[in-house]
Amino acid sequence: MAYKKNNVLRIVFIFSALFLLAGFFTSSPSRGEEKTINARKLFEYHCAKCHGLTGEANKRGKALKAPDLCDPEWQSSITDEQILHTITNGKNKMPRWSERLKPEEIEALAKYVRKLEKKKR
Ligand code: HEC
Repeated sequence: MAYKKNNVLRIVFIFSALFLLAGFFTSSPSRGEEKTINARKLFEYHCAKCHGLTGEANKRGKALKAPDLCDPEWQSSITDEQILHTITNGKNKMPRWSERLKPEEIEALAKYVRKLEKKKR
């Protein structure tokens, strides 16, 4: 009798351990993904077609008169508000993003633009 009881306990123990493990693996990775905004991915997806992957502006960007976002001189000539405003509302040939991106995505991109400055990398 004692022998059987032990076996039942063992099975219960193994099942609860599996349950805990399953819960751990299914819940933690997906939770993180939903909330964090990957500004670099957004930039590469939406902005690189004019500004290039680095921010220096590619052929198309240069033809449209996009500034070199890596240039420290350009960086110091502009305020955070202006960057945010331009990404949100557009400016000349720069498209507006207020309809396509969420405000928090635009904010993340404005911060990302600051990180493109050459000496900071
Ligand atoms: C169709 C090409 C194009 C795309 C796509 C584009 N831009 Fe621009 N961007 C421009 C041009 C052109 C300018 C220069 C506007 C001017 O000063 O006349 C510019 C200017 C800027 C500036 C300078 C702001 C200012 O006030 O001078 C920032 C910052 C910027 N873009 C960020 C972004 C971000 C972030 C994205 C992606 C969400 C993006 N751009 C997508 C063409 C583009």
